[in-house]
Amino acid sequence: MVLYIFYKNKRNKTSGFFFRYNNGIINVMETIIRKVDKNQIEKEVIEQAGRIIREGGLVAFPTETVYGLGANALDEEAAKKTYEAKGRPSDNPLIIHIADFGDLNRIVQNISKKAMDLAEAFWPGPLTMIFEKSDLVPYGTTGGLDTVAVRMPDDSIARELILEGGGYISAPSANTSGRPSPTTAKHVEEDMSGRIDMILDGGSVDIGVESTIVDMTTEPPMILRPGAVTKKMVEEVIGEVQIDKTLLGEETDEAPKAPGMKYRHYAPKAQLKIVQGTLKDEVNAIKQLAYEKTKKGKKVGVIASTETVSRYTTGLIKTIGTRENQSSIAKNLYKVLREFDDENVDCIYSESFSVDGIGSAIMNRLEKAAGHQIIDAHEIASKQKFRRVVFVSKSDNSRGPMAAELLRNQDLIQEYEIESRGMIVLFPEPANQKAEAIMKSHQMTLEGHETVAFSEDDLDEDTLVLTLEENQKWKIVTDYEYVKHVYTLSEYVEIDKEIPSAYGQPLVEYGKSFEILKEMIKKLAEKLNEEAKK
Ligand code: TXA
Ligand code: MG
Repeated sequence: MVLYIFYKNKRNKTSGFFFRYNNGIINVMETIIRKVDKNQIEKEVIEQAGRIIREGGLVAFPTETVYGLGANALDEEAAKKTYEAKGRPSDNPLIIHIADFGDLNRIVQNISKKAMDLAEAFWPGPLTMIFEKSDLVPYGTTGGLDTVAVRMPDDSIARELILEGGGYISAPSANTSGRPSPTTAKHVEEDMSGRIDMILDGGSVDIGVESTIVDMTTEPPMILRPGAVTKKMVEEVIGEVQIDKTLLGEETDEAPKAPGMKYRHYAPKAQLKIVQGTLKDEVNAIKQLAYEKTKKGKKVGVIASTETVSRYTTGLIKTIGTRENQSSIAKNLYKVLREFDDENVDCIYSESFSVDGIGSAIMNRLEKAAGHQIIDAHEIASKQKFRRVVFVSKSDNSRGPMAAELLRNQDLIQEYEIESRGMIVLFPEPANQKAEAIMKSHQMTLEGHETVAFSEDDLDEDTLVLTLEENQKWKIVTDYEYVKHVYTLSEYVEIDKEIPSAYGQPLVEYGKSFEILKEMIKKLAEKLNEEAKK
């Protein structure tokens, strides 16, 4: 039986007592949380953390990639504790972190010229290299393998901790196995509170995705996990490298060479699907998918970019970063996935991103998080003939907005932007009060409506323009060049009735217009739904 009690104290922040009954004995672990300023590291804090590591305990610390869960890499018992705290299978080897290049030769055999060159170029930094291990490294750390992964991180807190902790710190990402890797101390706290001795809070990490792993025991060397150090960057230093075929979703029955890459990793609780195609198709497809799921009562998350976010209307929409700077996307990736977990969404749709530079790491992690479920954006987007319906009346203050609101209240298979426009609108005005009274009596409202003048922007390939009267259609057809989808409402729904303007007349006349509109809009919805099913 496991029982957590959360407890916070301002002076010395501790969190999460973890009680565990073991044959009647209760083990209590208190996680010490200390803030550390990268530019002014308190010696006393690092000494405390280093002592914990040397004594076989666990300390989470920031690196430039993600937060790591540190333990003495040369202590088999400490490795066991690491696996237990993460709930991670113990055949999944750990990376040993060093702070001094001179420490490398004690833990590995055969440091090739290529490895020296890569270390020279990228250490300290987000590069992990695989070597044959020396006898000093216990199998508990390498998951039973004769090889060992080594990295020299760039973060100053990490480096000081490594030196203070004895020089060799094993550190997997400090998340519960299967959850997105932590990029802030808060993420670590969520997963590890009460399970580890200490968390060093150094703020948000710089990169946000784990290091590039290169296996130096094969010739040519092989990239087992993409990261911020790209294939091109590695090749510029040592010439040709191979890339593990199982990365980036290539069809293969082989297991990935890095044991950790086979697990359902980095995954949010909700089902994530990547939508792939041209950016325009991706947005339209995600809008449609989010709309359909929401209609079914599901809570939908959408991963958007700065460039597209304003296009979405349905679901919980989060911006992951800008396409102009892919590093911003890498940095936010895990944070966004964790936020969706916190909000308990049922499913998540993500745009896809370029695989240039750090993009190959982003898409690799995203595809793993999605269990390689990829949706063809074009297939969905191309089914949609119209994405926008615009009702055009004379002054856009009564029949037009009524028609639009009636359509919004229909059960539509597809999501449309539904709007109304007026041929003569000099300045924005609210809806006519009598029209509003009629709508209210039918549990609808025109509240917030403002009249808008019709313009050329309302004529587009994917926009259905429906005029309330013949003369508006005629005017549009004669005044504008692009008039592909312009109809009168009555013509489009094949109901041969006029929709009279009730302007200046008693309420009952508005009521009559409403009834005609209601009949026509019902037919319109049926027609649109039939169109969407094709
Ligand atoms: O950026 C990083 O590398 C972070 C920070 C904390 O340094 N650490 C990290 O560790 O991502 P972890 O344990 O979450 O991922 C280590 C990966 C796993 O996929 C593991 O299978 C692979 O490295 N690995 C470790 N040793 C290996 C070996 N000897 N051969 C092949 N793959 C190995
Ligand atoms: Mg990990």
